[in-house]
Amino acid sequence: MSGRLSNRRAVITGAAKGLGLACAKRFLDEGARVLLADLDEAGLAEALRSLEPYGEAAKTRRCDVAHREEIEAAISACAEAWGGIDILVNNAGIAISADILKIDSDTFNKVIAVNLTSAFHGTQIAARRMIEQGTGGVVINMSSVNAVLNIPHLLAYNVSKGGLNQLTKNTAIALAPHKIRVCGIGPGTVLTELTRNAVWTDEAARRSILSRTPIGRAGEPEEIASIAAFLASDDASYVTGETIYADGGRLGLNYTVATEG
Ligand SMILES: NC(=O)c1ccc[n+]([C@@H]2O[C@H](COP(=O)([O-])OP(=O)(O)OC[C@H]3O[C@@H](n4cnc5c(N)ncnc54)[C@H](O)[C@@H]3O)[C@@H](O)[C@H]2O)c1
Repeated sequence: MSGRLSNRRAVITGAAKGLGLACAKRFLDEGARVLLADLDEAGLAEALRSLEPYGEAAKTRRCDVAHREEIEAAISACAEAWGGIDILVNNAGIAISADILKIDSDTFNKVIAVNLTSAFHGTQIAARRMIEQGTGGVVINMSSVNAVLNIPHLLAYNVSKGGLNQLTKNTAIALAPHKIRVCGIGPGTVLTELTRNAVWTDEAARRSILSRTPIGRAGEPEEIASIAAFLASDDASYVTGETIYADGGRLGLNYTVATEG
């Protein structure tokens, strides 16, 4: 298939469902070959069935991003299948709700490991390969509006996403001489399993979220995937270090503005 991402080889973590799967579909539509990495093997099998029309351009691999060697193995599998890697999307993420006075260090560290440390590992492993290939490349980190906003019971999540934005900026500068761009996407509320469990929990929560969403609705995964495809493509050739927020206007909203919920 031809398109903006023709001949590009991509690894997307957390791609068995949600935003990762939507990004995989969009990348495939734009001509890329995509390795979907996730720890959910049953989810991967289901995702692959939904990607059957793309044939050999879509592959899956079990990968727990909390373990560096599993990220390394996923990136190697992409390189073995298609001769290299051009795009890495550090998308896998978890949110664990816990009171600051009760959260234990294992829980805190797990969220940081999956959401932040994994992106450091992935970026380093992919960048080394991209430099060896001499072709440059793109890394996209799936951040959140919670990189800059806070929900008290999602402390570790918020901290991980704030750190991810700094990882994006720092690695963008460090890797620019190697023609590797590093960008982020900061979704607001997009309807996936993670949101349904973490914030879209009941009618009151839904109304509260919509009261802070000027566009007046939650986003769709495809509305994030289209940004990922743009950032991964040469259309974004002068964009690096930046996190693009797709939040229905939330970050622009002053606290004094009353909105319908
Ligand atoms: N949906 C939203 O509204 C929203 C908003 C802001 C940011 N995000 C971010 O987008 C990313 C994707 O979120 P989503 O809504 O699609 O979530 P989701 O829960 O629907 O999907 C996440 C995927 O990541 C996988 N995963 C979890 N832990 C993993 C691990 N250790 N190793 C490999 N895979 C793992 C899960 O199996 C799942 O397939 C996350 O980083 C999340 O923080 C989502």
